[in-house]
Amino acid sequence: MSDTQKSATLAIDGQSFELPIYSPTAGPDVLDIRKLYAQAGVFTYDPGFTSTASCDSTITFIDGDKGVLLHRGYPIDQLAGKSHYLEVCFLLLYGYLPTAAELEDFENTITRHTMVHEQMNNFFRGFRRDAHPMAIIVGVVGAMSAFYHDSTDINDPLQREIASHRLIAKMPTIAAMAYKYTVGQPFVYPRNDLDYASNFLRMCFAVPCEEYEVNPILSRAMDRIFTLHADHEQNASTSTVRLASSSGANPFACIAAGIACLWGPAHGGANQACLEMLKEIGSVDRIPEYIARAKDKNDPFRLMGFGHRVYKNTDPRATVLKQSADEVLELLGVENNPLLAVAKELEQVALNDPYFVEKKLFPNVDFYSGIILEAMGFPTSMFTPIFALSRTVGWISQWKEQFSDPAHKIGRPRQLYLGETLRNYADIEDR
Ligand code: CMC
Repeated sequence: MSDTQKSATLAIDGQSFELPIYSPTAGPDVLDIRKLYAQAGVFTYDPGFTSTASCDSTITFIDGDKGVLLHRGYPIDQLAGKSHYLEVCFLLLYGYLPTAAELEDFENTITRHTMVHEQMNNFFRGFRRDAHPMAIIVGVVGAMSAFYHDSTDINDPLQREIASHRLIAKMPTIAAMAYKYTVGQPFVYPRNDLDYASNFLRMCFAVPCEEYEVNPILSRAMDRIFTLHADHEQNASTSTVRLASSSGANPFACIAAGIACLWGPAHGGANQACLEMLKEIGSVDRIPEYIARAKDKNDPFRLMGFGHRVYKNTDPRATVLKQSADEVLELLGVENNPLLAVAKELEQVALNDPYFVEKKLFPNVDFYSGIILEAMGFPTSMFTPIFALSRTVGWISQWKEQFSDPAHKIGRPRQLYLGETLRNYADIEDR
Protein backbone atom coordinates (compact mmCIF):
# COMPACT_ATOMS: atom_id res chain seq x y z
CA MET A 1 0.00 0.00 0.00
CA SER A 2 1.42 3.37 -0.92
CA ASP A 3 1.80 5.94 1.80
CA THR A 4 0.16 8.89 0.09
CA GLN A 5 -0.90 12.09 1.75
CA LYS A 6 -4.51 11.53 0.73
CA SER A 7 -7.12 11.65 3.45
CA ALA A 8 -10.86 11.99 3.90
CA THR A 9 -12.63 14.25 6.34
CA LEU A 10 -15.56 12.90 8.29
CA ALA A 11 -17.83 15.36 10.06
CA ILE A 12 -19.90 14.18 13.02
CA ASP A 13 -21.90 16.63 15.13
CA GLY A 14 -19.75 19.57 14.09
CA GLN A 15 -16.47 17.77 14.83
CA SER A 16 -14.27 16.65 11.98
CA PHE A 17 -11.96 13.66 11.79
CA GLU A 18 -9.19 12.98 9.27
CA LEU A 19 -9.09 9.45 7.89
CA PRO A 20 -5.98 8.36 5.96
CA ILE A 21 -6.51 6.97 2.46
CA TYR A 22 -4.22 4.29 1.06
CA SER A 23 -3.72 3.64 -2.64
CA PRO A 24 -3.28 -0.01 -3.54
CA THR A 25 -1.19 -1.21 -6.51
CA ALA A 26 -4.53 -2.02 -8.18
CA GLY A 27 -8.17 -1.51 -7.22
CA PRO A 28 -10.00 1.25 -5.38
CA ASP A 29 -8.47 3.42 -2.67
CA VAL A 30 -8.98 2.28 0.90
CA LEU A 31 -10.08 4.44 3.80
CA ASP A 32 -8.33 3.62 7.10
CA ILE A 33 -10.95 3.63 9.85
CA ARG A 34 -8.91 1.75 12.45
CA LYS A 35 -8.75 4.71 14.85
CA LEU A 36 -12.30 5.85 14.15
CA TYR A 37 -13.88 4.44 17.30
CA ALA A 38 -11.06 5.62 19.54
CA GLN A 39 -11.23 9.15 18.10
CA ALA A 40 -14.88 9.65 17.15
CA GLY A 41 -16.68 7.02 19.26
CA VAL A 42 -18.56 5.54 16.29
CA PHE A 43 -18.48 2.21 14.50
CA THR A 44 -18.95 1.63 10.78
CA TYR A 45 -21.79 -0.59 9.57
CA ASP A 46 -21.18 -3.01 6.71
CA PRO A 47 -23.03 -6.33 6.94
CA GLY A 48 -21.67 -8.73 4.33
CA PHE A 49 -18.45 -6.65 4.18
CA THR A 50 -19.44 -5.18 0.82
CA SER A 51 -17.17 -2.14 1.30
CA THR A 52 -14.67 -3.37 3.86
CA ALA A 53 -11.07 -4.47 3.28
CA SER A 54 -10.25 -6.81 6.14
CA CYS A 55 -6.51 -7.10 5.45
CA ASP A 56 -3.83 -6.17 2.98
CA SER A 57 -2.69 -8.90 0.64
CA THR A 58 -0.31 -9.47 -2.27
CA ILE A 59 -1.72 -12.78 -3.48
CA THR A 60 -4.80 -12.35 -5.67
CA PHE A 61 -6.41 -9.37 -7.36
CA ILE A 62 -9.91 -9.24 -8.85
CA ASP A 63 -11.39 -6.44 -10.92
CA GLY A 64 -15.04 -7.43 -10.86
CA ASP A 65 -16.16 -4.80 -13.37
CA LYS A 66 -13.63 -5.85 -15.97
CA GLY A 67 -13.77 -9.59 -15.22
CA VAL A 68 -10.09 -9.76 -14.29
CA LEU A 69 -8.52 -12.33 -11.95
CA LEU A 70 -4.78 -12.21 -11.29
CA HIS A 71 -2.70 -14.48 -9.09
CA ARG A 72 0.51 -12.69 -8.08
CA GLY A 73 -0.10 -10.54 -11.17
CA TYR A 74 -0.61 -13.38 -13.67
CA PRO A 75 -4.02 -13.59 -15.43
CA ILE A 76 -6.03 -16.71 -14.70
CA ASP A 77 -6.54 -17.58 -18.39
CA GLN A 78 -2.76 -17.68 -18.91
CA LEU A 79 -2.28 -19.83 -15.83
CA ALA A 80 -5.12 -22.18 -16.82
CA GLY A 81 -3.79 -22.43 -20.37
CA LYS A 82 -0.01 -22.58 -19.86
CA SER A 83 0.65 -23.60 -16.28
CA HIS A 84 -0.62 -26.43 -14.09
CA TYR A 85 -2.03 -26.71 -10.60
CA LEU A 86 1.13 -27.46 -8.60
CA GLU A 87 3.00 -24.64 -10.30
CA VAL A 88 0.11 -22.31 -9.43
CA CYS A 89 0.27 -23.62 -5.85
CA PHE A 90 3.95 -22.63 -5.72
CA LEU A 91 3.12 -19.24 -7.19
CA LEU A 92 0.38 -18.59 -4.64
CA LEU A 93 2.47 -19.77 -1.71
CA TYR A 94 5.80 -18.12 -2.57
CA GLY A 95 4.86 -15.22 -4.84
CA TYR A 96 6.84 -16.05 -7.99
CA LEU A 97 6.98 -18.63 -10.78
CA PRO A 98 9.41 -21.39 -9.80
CA THR A 99 12.51 -22.40 -11.73
CA ALA A 100 12.48 -25.95 -13.10
CA ALA A 101 14.55 -27.15 -10.11
CA GLU A 102 12.32 -25.40 -7.58
CA LEU A 103 9.21 -26.84 -9.19
CA GLU A 104 10.62 -30.35 -9.19
CA ASP A 105 11.56 -30.02 -5.56
CA PHE A 106 8.10 -28.70 -4.64
CA GLU A 107 6.33 -31.43 -6.61
CA ASN A 108 8.46 -34.04 -4.86
CA THR A 109 7.61 -32.62 -1.45
CA ILE A 110 3.88 -32.58 -2.16
CA THR A 111 3.93 -36.04 -3.74
CA ARG A 112 5.71 -37.49 -0.73
CA HIS A 113 3.16 -36.16 1.75
CA THR A 114 0.06 -37.61 0.08
CA MET A 115 -0.51 -40.59 2.37
CA VAL A 116 -2.53 -40.04 5.52
CA HIS A 117 -1.79 -41.61 8.90
CA GLU A 118 -3.12 -45.16 8.69
CA GLN A 119 -5.08 -44.74 11.90
CA MET A 120 -7.10 -41.95 10.28
CA ASN A 121 -8.90 -44.64 8.30
CA ASN A 122 -10.79 -45.41 11.48
CA PHE A 123 -12.34 -41.95 11.49
CA PHE A 124 -13.96 -42.61 8.16
CA ARG A 125 -15.51 -45.79 9.46
CA GLY A 126 -17.26 -43.82 12.20
CA PHE A 127 -19.39 -41.97 9.64
CA ARG A 128 -22.65 -43.23 8.16
CA ARG A 129 -22.17 -44.52 4.63
CA ASP A 130 -24.71 -42.01 3.34
CA ALA A 131 -22.90 -39.04 4.89
CA HIS A 132 -22.19 -36.17 2.50
CA PRO A 133 -18.45 -36.27 1.63
CA MET A 134 -18.17 -32.63 2.78
CA ALA A 135 -19.39 -33.65 6.25
CA ILE A 136 -16.68 -36.31 6.37
CA ILE A 137 -13.97 -33.99 5.05
CA VAL A 138 -14.73 -31.21 7.57
CA GLY A 139 -14.37 -33.75 10.36
CA VAL A 140 -11.27 -35.50 9.05
CA VAL A 141 -9.35 -32.31 8.22
CA GLY A 142 -10.13 -30.96 11.70
CA ALA A 143 -8.93 -34.30 13.10
CA MET A 144 -5.54 -33.87 11.39
CA SER A 145 -4.62 -31.65 14.35
CA ALA A 146 -4.96 -34.77 16.50
CA PHE A 147 -2.39 -36.60 14.34
CA TYR A 148 0.20 -34.14 13.12
CA HIS A 149 1.34 -32.57 16.38
CA ASP A 150 4.68 -31.66 14.86
CA SER A 151 3.06 -29.10 12.56
CA THR A 152 0.54 -27.32 14.78
CA ASP A 153 2.84 -24.72 16.38
CA ILE A 154 1.88 -21.64 14.40
CA ASN A 155 4.76 -19.62 15.81
CA ASP A 156 7.32 -21.88 14.17
CA PRO A 157 7.78 -21.03 10.46
CA LEU A 158 9.05 -24.53 9.68
CA GLN A 159 5.97 -26.13 11.23
CA ARG A 160 3.76 -23.72 9.28
CA GLU A 161 5.56 -24.80 6.12
CA ILE A 162 5.13 -28.51 6.87
CA ALA A 163 1.44 -28.05 7.70
CA SER A 164 1.00 -26.20 4.37
CA HIS A 165 2.57 -29.04 2.41
CA ARG A 166 0.63 -31.66 4.32
CA LEU A 167 -2.70 -30.00 3.67
CA ILE A 168 -2.12 -29.48 -0.06
CA ALA A 169 -0.81 -33.03 -0.40
CA LYS A 170 -3.39 -34.85 1.69
CA MET A 171 -6.58 -33.08 0.66
CA PRO A 172 -6.99 -35.14 -2.56
CA THR A 173 -6.38 -38.33 -0.56
CA ILE A 174 -8.94 -37.34 2.07
CA ALA A 175 -11.52 -36.23 -0.53
CA ALA A 176 -11.06 -39.47 -2.48
CA MET A 177 -11.33 -41.53 0.72
CA ALA A 178 -14.56 -39.71 1.62
CA TYR A 179 -15.93 -40.62 -1.81
CA LYS A 180 -14.78 -44.25 -1.62
CA TYR A 181 -16.33 -44.58 1.81
CA THR A 182 -19.72 -43.30 0.65
CA VAL A 183 -19.81 -45.73 -2.30
CA GLY A 184 -18.67 -48.67 -0.18
CA GLN A 185 -15.40 -49.29 -2.01
CA PRO A 186 -11.95 -49.83 -0.48
CA PHE A 187 -9.66 -46.84 -0.11
CA VAL A 188 -7.09 -46.52 -2.89
CA TYR A 189 -3.62 -45.40 -1.75
CA PRO A 190 -1.89 -42.55 -3.60
CA ARG A 191 0.80 -43.36 -6.14
CA ASN A 192 3.95 -41.29 -6.30
CA ASP A 193 4.56 -41.80 -10.01
CA LEU A 194 1.38 -39.93 -10.93
CA ASP A 195 0.84 -36.20 -11.14
CA TYR A 196 -1.49 -34.49 -8.67
CA ALA A 197 -4.65 -34.61 -10.82
CA SER A 198 -4.08 -38.13 -12.17
CA ASN A 199 -3.44 -39.39 -8.67
CA PHE A 200 -6.74 -37.92 -7.49
CA LEU A 201 -8.67 -39.46 -10.38
CA ARG A 202 -7.09 -42.84 -9.70
CA MET A 203 -7.81 -42.66 -5.96
CA CYS A 204 -11.45 -41.93 -6.82
CA PHE A 205 -12.05 -44.36 -9.66
CA ALA A 206 -9.61 -47.29 -9.35
CA VAL A 207 -10.72 -50.54 -7.71
CA PRO A 208 -8.41 -53.36 -6.58
CA CYS A 209 -9.89 -55.91 -8.99
CA GLU A 210 -8.74 -54.27 -12.23
CA GLU A 211 -6.15 -51.93 -13.66
CA TYR A 212 -7.10 -48.27 -13.93
CA GLU A 213 -5.49 -46.11 -16.56
CA VAL A 214 -5.79 -42.38 -16.16
CA ASN A 215 -7.05 -40.69 -19.31
CA PRO A 216 -4.63 -37.78 -19.89
CA ILE A 217 -7.44 -35.64 -21.29
CA LEU A 218 -9.45 -36.05 -18.12
CA SER A 219 -6.40 -35.50 -16.00
CA ARG A 220 -5.71 -32.21 -17.82
CA ALA A 221 -9.34 -31.14 -17.38
CA MET A 222 -9.18 -32.05 -13.69
CA ASP A 223 -5.97 -30.07 -13.28
CA ARG A 224 -7.59 -27.08 -14.95
CA ILE A 225 -10.56 -27.24 -12.57
CA PHE A 226 -8.12 -27.31 -9.63
CA THR A 227 -6.23 -24.34 -11.09
CA LEU A 228 -9.35 -22.25 -11.69
CA HIS A 229 -10.48 -22.70 -8.09
CA ALA A 230 -7.08 -22.25 -6.41
CA ASP A 231 -7.64 -18.83 -4.83
CA HIS A 232 -10.10 -15.99 -4.94
CA GLU A 233 -8.87 -13.34 -2.48
CA GLN A 234 -11.04 -12.52 0.56
CA ASN A 235 -14.14 -14.65 -0.20
CA ALA A 236 -16.30 -16.07 2.61
CA SER A 237 -14.31 -19.26 3.25
CA THR A 238 -10.92 -17.52 3.01
CA SER A 239 -12.09 -14.82 5.41
CA THR A 240 -13.33 -17.61 7.68
CA VAL A 241 -9.87 -19.21 7.62
CA ARG A 242 -8.23 -15.85 8.39
CA LEU A 243 -10.71 -15.13 11.19
CA ALA A 244 -10.25 -18.59 12.74
CA SER A 245 -6.48 -18.21 12.48
CA SER A 246 -6.55 -14.73 14.04
CA SER A 247 -7.23 -16.34 17.42
CA GLY A 248 -4.11 -18.49 17.09
CA ALA A 249 -5.95 -21.69 16.14
CA ASN A 250 -3.87 -24.44 14.51
CA PRO A 251 -3.78 -24.72 10.69
CA PHE A 252 -5.86 -27.90 10.46
CA ALA A 253 -8.64 -26.37 12.58
CA CYS A 254 -8.54 -23.20 10.45
CA ILE A 255 -8.81 -25.09 7.16
CA ALA A 256 -11.65 -27.21 8.57
CA ALA A 257 -13.45 -23.92 9.33
CA GLY A 258 -12.88 -22.81 5.73
CA ILE A 259 -14.26 -26.09 4.40
CA ALA A 260 -17.37 -25.71 6.55
CA CYS A 261 -17.98 -22.23 5.18
CA LEU A 262 -17.36 -23.29 1.58
CA TRP A 263 -20.05 -25.96 1.84
CA GLY A 264 -22.96 -23.49 1.68
CA PRO A 265 -24.93 -23.19 -1.59
CA ALA A 266 -24.18 -19.46 -1.90
CA HIS A 267 -20.47 -20.33 -2.04
CA GLY A 268 -18.77 -23.64 -2.97
CA GLY A 269 -21.97 -25.64 -2.64
CA ALA A 270 -23.32 -23.82 -5.70
CA ASN A 271 -21.72 -26.28 -8.13
CA GLN A 272 -23.74 -29.17 -6.73
CA ALA A 273 -26.86 -27.00 -6.52
CA CYS A 274 -26.33 -25.82 -10.10
CA LEU A 275 -26.13 -29.28 -11.60
CA GLU A 276 -29.15 -30.40 -9.59
CA MET A 277 -31.00 -27.36 -10.94
CA LEU A 278 -30.03 -28.16 -14.54
CA LYS A 279 -31.28 -31.71 -14.03
CA GLU A 280 -34.51 -30.44 -12.52
CA ILE A 281 -35.06 -28.13 -15.49
CA GLY A 282 -34.33 -31.13 -17.70
CA SER A 283 -35.14 -29.68 -21.12
CA VAL A 284 -34.87 -26.31 -22.83
CA ASP A 285 -38.65 -25.86 -23.07
CA ARG A 286 -38.86 -25.58 -19.25
CA ILE A 287 -36.30 -22.75 -19.05
CA PRO A 288 -38.85 -19.87 -19.16
CA GLU A 289 -40.60 -21.31 -16.10
CA TYR A 290 -37.32 -21.27 -14.11
CA ILE A 291 -36.32 -17.83 -15.35
CA ALA A 292 -39.70 -16.54 -14.17
CA ARG A 293 -39.20 -18.16 -10.78
CA ALA A 294 -35.70 -16.63 -10.42
CA LYS A 295 -37.20 -13.19 -11.09
CA ASP A 296 -40.14 -13.63 -8.71
CA LYS A 297 -39.49 -11.72 -5.47
CA ASN A 298 -41.84 -14.08 -3.61
CA ASP A 299 -39.98 -17.19 -4.71
CA PRO A 300 -36.69 -17.93 -2.90
CA PHE A 301 -35.41 -19.77 -6.02
CA ARG A 302 -32.23 -18.34 -7.56
CA LEU A 303 -30.48 -19.39 -10.72
CA MET A 304 -27.58 -21.34 -9.28
CA GLY A 305 -24.26 -20.67 -10.97
CA PHE A 306 -25.36 -17.09 -11.69
CA GLY A 307 -24.23 -13.90 -10.00
CA HIS A 308 -21.21 -13.01 -7.96
CA ARG A 309 -20.47 -10.54 -5.21
CA VAL A 310 -17.45 -9.15 -7.04
CA TYR A 311 -17.78 -10.02 -10.74
CA LYS A 312 -20.28 -7.73 -12.40
CA ASN A 313 -19.29 -8.29 -16.03
CA THR A 314 -17.98 -11.78 -16.52
CA ASP A 315 -16.36 -14.44 -14.36
CA PRO A 316 -13.07 -15.18 -16.19
CA ARG A 317 -13.01 -18.66 -14.65
CA ALA A 318 -16.39 -19.42 -16.26
CA THR A 319 -15.05 -18.37 -19.66
CA VAL A 320 -12.21 -20.91 -19.42
CA LEU A 321 -14.50 -23.61 -18.06
CA LYS A 322 -17.09 -23.15 -20.78
CA GLN A 323 -14.37 -23.90 -23.31
CA SER A 324 -13.19 -26.86 -21.22
CA ALA A 325 -16.72 -28.24 -21.02
CA ASP A 326 -16.98 -28.26 -24.81
CA GLU A 327 -13.58 -29.95 -25.18
CA VAL A 328 -14.09 -32.57 -22.48
CA LEU A 329 -17.57 -33.55 -23.59
CA GLU A 330 -16.45 -33.82 -27.18
CA LEU A 331 -13.45 -35.95 -26.25
CA LEU A 332 -15.64 -38.18 -24.11
CA GLY A 333 -18.06 -38.45 -27.00
CA VAL A 334 -20.92 -36.93 -24.99
CA GLU A 335 -21.12 -33.57 -26.75
CA ASN A 336 -24.86 -34.03 -27.12
CA ASN A 337 -25.20 -34.03 -23.36
CA PRO A 338 -28.73 -32.71 -22.62
CA LEU A 339 -27.53 -30.85 -19.53
CA LEU A 340 -25.03 -28.91 -21.62
CA ALA A 341 -27.84 -28.02 -24.01
CA VAL A 342 -29.97 -26.76 -21.10
CA ALA A 343 -26.98 -24.88 -19.64
CA LYS A 344 -26.14 -23.14 -22.92
CA GLU A 345 -29.73 -22.13 -23.60
CA LEU A 346 -30.26 -20.98 -20.01
CA GLU A 347 -27.14 -18.85 -20.25
CA GLN A 348 -28.35 -17.24 -23.49
CA VAL A 349 -31.85 -16.58 -22.16
CA ALA A 350 -30.55 -15.11 -18.90
CA LEU A 351 -27.90 -12.97 -20.59
CA ASN A 352 -30.59 -11.38 -22.75
CA ASP A 353 -33.17 -10.92 -20.02
CA PRO A 354 -33.38 -7.34 -18.62
CA TYR A 355 -33.62 -8.64 -15.01
CA PHE A 356 -30.24 -10.39 -15.22
CA VAL A 357 -28.67 -7.66 -17.36
CA GLU A 358 -29.69 -4.87 -14.97
CA LYS A 359 -28.52 -6.78 -11.89
CA LYS A 360 -25.29 -7.74 -13.68
CA LEU A 361 -25.84 -11.45 -13.14
CA PHE A 362 -23.52 -13.60 -15.25
CA PRO A 363 -22.61 -17.29 -15.19
CA ASN A 364 -19.97 -17.92 -12.54
CA VAL A 365 -17.34 -20.66 -12.22
CA ASP A 366 -19.89 -23.11 -10.86
CA PHE A 367 -22.10 -22.92 -13.92
CA TYR A 368 -19.91 -25.15 -16.09
CA SER A 369 -17.73 -27.05 -13.60
CA GLY A 370 -20.54 -29.45 -12.65
CA ILE A 371 -21.17 -30.47 -16.25
CA ILE A 372 -17.50 -31.39 -16.68
CA LEU A 373 -17.30 -33.19 -13.36
CA GLU A 374 -20.43 -35.20 -14.06
CA ALA A 375 -19.13 -36.21 -17.49
CA MET A 376 -15.97 -37.41 -15.75
CA GLY A 377 -18.05 -39.69 -13.56
CA PHE A 378 -18.24 -37.75 -10.29
CA PRO A 379 -21.53 -37.71 -8.37
CA THR A 380 -22.84 -34.23 -7.52
CA SER A 381 -21.91 -34.72 -3.85
CA MET A 382 -18.23 -34.68 -4.88
CA PHE A 383 -18.36 -31.32 -6.61
CA THR A 384 -17.91 -29.22 -3.47
CA PRO A 385 -15.15 -31.50 -2.09
CA ILE A 386 -13.27 -30.94 -5.36
CA PHE A 387 -13.69 -27.19 -4.91
CA ALA A 388 -12.43 -27.56 -1.32
CA LEU A 389 -9.33 -29.49 -2.28
CA SER A 390 -8.54 -26.97 -5.04
CA ARG A 391 -9.05 -23.99 -2.72
CA THR A 392 -6.88 -25.42 0.07
CA VAL A 393 -3.78 -23.78 -1.40
CA GLY A 394 -5.56 -20.42 -1.48
CA TRP A 395 -6.63 -20.75 2.14
CA ILE A 396 -3.12 -21.82 3.13
CA SER A 397 -1.42 -19.01 1.21
CA GLN A 398 -3.69 -16.42 2.80
CA TRP A 399 -3.24 -18.05 6.21
CA LYS A 400 0.56 -17.91 5.84
CA GLU A 401 0.42 -14.30 4.69
CA GLN A 402 -1.25 -13.29 7.94
CA PHE A 403 1.89 -14.14 9.88
CA SER A 404 3.98 -11.64 7.98
CA ASP A 405 1.49 -8.81 8.56
CA PRO A 406 2.57 -6.57 11.47
CA ALA A 407 -0.99 -5.22 11.74
CA HIS A 408 -2.32 -8.75 12.24
CA LYS A 409 -4.58 -9.06 15.29
CA ILE A 410 -7.59 -11.08 16.40
CA GLY A 411 -10.61 -10.41 14.21
CA ARG A 412 -13.42 -8.96 16.26
CA PRO A 413 -16.22 -7.14 14.39
CA ARG A 414 -18.52 -4.75 16.25
CA GLN A 415 -22.29 -4.50 15.90
CA LEU A 416 -25.26 -2.19 15.59
CA TYR A 417 -27.15 -3.29 18.69
CA LEU A 418 -30.93 -3.02 18.36
CA GLY A 419 -32.01 -5.16 21.32
CA GLU A 420 -33.41 -4.31 24.72
CA THR A 421 -31.50 -1.91 26.94
CA LEU A 422 -30.93 -2.68 30.62
CA ARG A 423 -33.91 -4.27 32.34
CA ASN A 424 -34.31 -6.14 35.62
CA TYR A 425 -34.68 -9.89 35.84
CA ALA A 426 -38.26 -10.89 36.70
CA ASP A 427 -38.85 -13.89 38.96
CA ILE A 428 -40.77 -16.67 37.22
CA GLU A 429 -43.98 -16.14 39.25
CA ASP A 430 -44.02 -12.44 38.23
CA ARG A 431 -43.93 -13.00 34.42
N1 CMC B 1 -30.71 -15.62 -9.44
C1 CMC B 1 -31.68 -14.66 -9.36
N2 CMC B 1 -31.48 -13.46 -8.77
C2 CMC B 1 -30.28 -13.22 -8.23
C3 CMC B 1 -29.24 -14.16 -8.29
C4 CMC B 1 -29.49 -15.39 -8.93
N3 CMC B 1 -28.52 -16.33 -8.98
N4 CMC B 1 -28.14 -13.66 -7.66
C5 CMC B 1 -28.48 -12.43 -7.24
N5 CMC B 1 -29.78 -12.16 -7.59
C6 CMC B 1 -30.50 -10.91 -7.34
C7 CMC B 1 -30.93 -10.81 -5.89
O1 CMC B 1 -32.23 -11.31 -5.71
C8 CMC B 1 -30.84 -9.34 -5.65
O2 CMC B 1 -32.00 -8.73 -6.19
P1 CMC B 1 -32.63 -7.40 -5.48
O3 CMC B 1 -31.57 -6.34 -5.60
O4 CMC B 1 -33.84 -7.13 -6.30
O5 CMC B 1 -32.91 -7.78 -4.07
C9 CMC B 1 -29.66 -8.87 -6.51
O6 CMC B 1 -29.57 -9.85 -7.56
C10 CMC B 1 -28.35 -8.82 -5.76
O7 CMC B 1 -28.18 -10.05 -5.07
P2 CMC B 1 -27.40 -10.19 -3.69
O8 CMC B 1 -27.78 -11.47 -3.04
O9 CMC B 1 -27.56 -8.94 -2.89
O10 CMC B 1 -25.92 -10.24 -4.22
P3 CMC B 1 -24.68 -10.80 -3.43
O11 CMC B 1 -23.51 -10.12 -4.00
O12 CMC B 1 -24.90 -10.68 -1.97
O13 CMC B 1 -24.72 -12.37 -3.78
C11 CMC B 1 -24.30 -14.48 -4.74
C12 CMC B 1 -23.85 -13.01 -4.63
C13 CMC B 1 -23.22 -15.27 -5.48
C14 CMC B 1 -24.43 -15.09 -3.33
C15 CMC B 1 -25.67 -14.53 -5.47
O14 CMC B 1 -25.54 -14.00 -6.77
C16 CMC B 1 -26.22 -15.96 -5.54
O15 CMC B 1 -26.88 -16.39 -4.58
N6 CMC B 1 -25.96 -16.70 -6.65
C17 CMC B 1 -26.37 -18.09 -6.76
C18 CMC B 1 -25.40 -18.98 -5.98
C19 CMC B 1 -24.08 -19.14 -6.70
O16 CMC B 1 -24.04 -19.42 -7.89
N7 CMC B 1 -22.99 -19.01 -5.94
C20 CMC B 1 -21.63 -19.24 -6.46
C21 CMC B 1 -20.79 -18.01 -6.43
S1 CMC B 1 -19.27 -18.24 -7.38
C22 CMC B 1 -18.38 -19.47 -6.52
C23 CMC B 1 -17.92 -18.99 -5.20
O17 CMC B 1 -17.25 -17.96 -5.14
O18 CMC B 1 -18.18 -19.69 -4.21
